[in-house]
Amino acid sequence: MPADDITEPPEHAVSSPNTPMYNMVRFWGRKPQNLVTSYIEQFTDEGETVLDPFSGSGVTALEALRADRRGIYNDLNPLFRHIARTTAAHVDLDELEDGFDTVMENLRYRRHEVGGADGDAQRSFRWLYETTCRNCGHERARTLETTATRVYSPSPGQAGEPISGDGTLDALATEIYDQLSEAERLSHDALVERIDLDEFGDARKSEITRAINQRLFENGYIRIEEDVPNELKYVCPECDASETVPLDEADEAKLDRIGELSPPYYYPDNELVYPNGQDFYTSRPGTERVDKLFTDRNLIALSILRHEIHRLETQGFDRTVVDALLLTFVAILEHVSRMQRPNKKGWAAKNYVIHPENLELNVAHAFRNRFSTVLDGMREANDELNGGDPVGDRGRFIQGDARDLPVDDQSVQYVFTDPEYGDAVQYFELSYMANSWLDSSVNWEDEIVVNPRQEKPRERYEEMLAAAFEEVFRVLESGGHLTVTFHSSELKYWNSLMHAIQQAGFDYVDAVYQVPAQEYTNWINRRKPGTMNGDIYITFRRPETREQPELDFGDIQAVRESILEEAKRVIRLHDGRATYDQLVRGVTLRLIEDNRMHSEQVRDFDYRRLFDDYLERTADGDAWTTADWAATDEVEYIPLQRRIRWLIESVYAGKEGSAATLDEILSRIFTSLKDAQTPENQEILDVLQSTAEPVEKDGVVYWRRRDSYQQTLAGNTLAEEEGLVDTETQREQLELDHDRIINRLAEFGKSVGYDAWIGDPETDRSEVLRDTQTRLRIPGDFSDTVRERLRNVDLIWFDGETPVAMFEVEHSTDPQDGIVRMGNAYAETGATPRAVSVVPDNRYDRWEKAVTQPALDELTDDNPFRCLTYSKLIELLGGRRSPAERGEERLFELATTPP
Ligand SMILES: C[S@@+](CC[C@H](N)C(=O)[O-])C[C@H]1O[C@@H](n2cnc3c(N)ncnc32)[C@H](O)[C@@H]1O
Ligand SMILES: [Zn+2]
Repeated sequence: MPADDITEPPEHAVSSPNTPMYNMVRFWGRKPQNLVTSYIEQFTDEGETVLDPFSGSGVTALEALRADRRGIYNDLNPLFRHIARTTAAHVDLDELEDGFDTVMENLRYRRHEVGGADGDAQRSFRWLYETTCRNCGHERARTLETTATRVYSPSPGQAGEPISGDGTLDALATEIYDQLSEAERLSHDALVERIDLDEFGDARKSEITRAINQRLFENGYIRIEEDVPNELKYVCPECDASETVPLDEADEAKLDRIGELSPPYYYPDNELVYPNGQDFYTSRPGTERVDKLFTDRNLIALSILRHEIHRLETQGFDRTVVDALLLTFVAILEHVSRMQRPNKKGWAAKNYVIHPENLELNVAHAFRNRFSTVLDGMREANDELNGGDPVGDRGRFIQGDARDLPVDDQSVQYVFTDPEYGDAVQYFELSYMANSWLDSSVNWEDEIVVNPRQEKPRERYEEMLAAAFEEVFRVLESGGHLTVTFHSSELKYWNSLMHAIQQAGFDYVDAVYQVPAQEYTNWINRRKPGTMNGDIYITFRRPETREQPELDFGDIQAVRESILEEAKRVIRLHDGRATYDQLVRGVTLRLIEDNRMHSEQVRDFDYRRLFDDYLERTADGDAWTTADWAATDEVEYIPLQRRIRWLIESVYAGKEGSAATLDEILSRIFTSLKDAQTPENQEILDVLQSTAEPVEKDGVVYWRRRDSYQQTLAGNTLAEEEGLVDTETQREQLELDHDRIINRLAEFGKSVGYDAWIGDPETDRSEVLRDTQTRLRIPGDFSDTVRERLRNVDLIWFDGETPVAMFEVEHSTDPQDGIVRMGNAYAETGATPRAVSVVPDNRYDRWEKAVTQPALDELTDDNPFRCLTYSKLIELLGGRRSPAERGEERLFELATTPP
């Protein structure tokens, strides 16, 4: 595909969940594979080469291979390359299962030198987790998990600043300290029980934890004594019992004994510090060394497991088998570490942090569970990445610096990538635990990230990024495209990114916001403002030669004004209340599109400060508003609630029954209400709950329409007669919708250069519509009868004297009338305007029926009738680019597509 032909990236899509290939190991900010694929397919042909210089877990390269392209993977981090390369390598699945069985077998029977002063220096892995069955007395029951809770003690005399201030956390910290001083030693559990502050509600535990960490621990008021195991869960192979019980004396004695032993083979004991000796940015108290992230027992267990995996090589197993099992090993690390929380969701955060209540999982058990996930993933990879050995020919997996790629000039057709997002995720720190277990060394110096402790301020980050994008410019073929995805709520990092790319010489093409996959799973839990969810995908084109970009930013005041103008637009789109996310999304896209994001002036702006200075916080403090957002006639504005409702309607209209899944509804809304328009989950839920209710069937939750709403929708006279419909409000609302749509379509026509004429009944009724139209009378040389008919059409676009399109906006009436009216007018004007019916989604089939009646066939051979559903209209009007740029073709394209 000649690159010149391509300017448009793919339209918005909703990210789908990971396929098994990507479920093998958790990763920070993995790109959704379906989106990556759609970009690759849009910008390349089969056989062409796709590069990702910051590949991470490798989605770009792997999807390139899947789509029969060549893929070049590059990442500086050895762990990440291991993940990607192992995924891509063809592995014999039978041999892999054999390898796994061999390891498990050896864990049961082999004995290892674990040290210890007396005679029990030889121990098997299995011994580590053995306990006595409380039910039948069998001595080889297996401990699956053990919970522990932290014990604190006060450290009088060491107190730093007094705990003061007016915050609730300060008050809580004071109370915790009082309790602790009284008790001398107190477990986290007991503490939570004692402190019963109603105001904290469900959040109490995490509030307490925060108060302890921030106020008490860091200021030296209290000490962590130890994490004390309190309960264990075991299974008994003899009697099948499975119970959670307190540790007995023997269990405790065993743990004490284990504490005296040491891991028999390699284990990492590196400190969590940079080469310059500074502590990790992401390390919290108690996590100073890699081995401290594990209990004594699990450290020994992991050391044995790792050894047994490596030993497979001496037993004749293929390297690919060892690699896949090491991948499994790496994947369980977070789960078998002390960072595991009682909810078993693994490592919580983008930090090394040990929760005061933590869980020790049995290493063998975790390994077995994870292996089945890995097996599924490797099966998919084997099948999808062409069944052969893709690493050999079509894929390259480079571990190197993005600023210096071993790739020829202009040898790549497309680049898709995302560098690290300022200081948001510390990839090298977070991968350090696993890299240490793999015994791979990390090249800190070349990591492109913002991190003051690594002596990498924003300026350095930007310089390094610029060098990386210059390198991309070198290897990318002239005319080829580059798509960068990024994710930050800090203006300065956006500025650095855009500046770097601009400096490298790329031309900006387009930017879109893509809704993240986790919206689906977490959607009921409202996020706090202050995080930017989802990514913006920005596409650039590489020109023939590298030129210094022309920069014309206007003055700082102009930048500020355009930010505020956009902020107001976003607030209006959201009915007067926009969240931080929505504002950041809108303003970020706006600055990128206005070619301002890379300018010096933007650098020192701070979103939150700007919003606070120029907008008003809502009463709950969660969002921003402006006093004048609503100073508009309701005809000029389609409220968010209506737009959401129409989109939900379209989902139900496309189905037989009256039930839809949340997935279907959300994906419709997210792909239509794009960018800054994307509603918060609660906004969707409000509309949904007013018309439907959740029902569960076969484990799937469907939203079923309420009967009463079903009847309201029918909106027909029958329902009215039977008194089922609240006709007054219903009719008013529908009439408003009708006028709003006419108004929007008139504005749209005007923006692409047409005159708008609006029907008499509408302009008689609405002052706004009178003002909107640009023709007071119907131009042209029509007979009185034709003119009479045209006067009753809702909206006509004129190109000079020629009508180019007629619109009839339907709500509760039968589309047939409008069709006939437009049909007659069409037949007699001598021109060839389109005749577009705009109908609610649930009336599309009626339109279809009306338009296929034989009488209309005779009107013309060249069928002028089109249909535009309400939801399609929303999609059309929703884009960020101006209607003029999208053009009328797009409108007609949409107007002919059935929902
Ligand atoms: C945001 S992540 C990429 C995630 C990836 N798109 C995915 O879906 O898994 C950024 C990556 O840049 C890598 N990186 C940082 N500095 C680098 C450098 N100088 N050269 C190459 N890679 C680097 C990090 O190791 C990290 O994997
Ligand atoms: Zn038993």
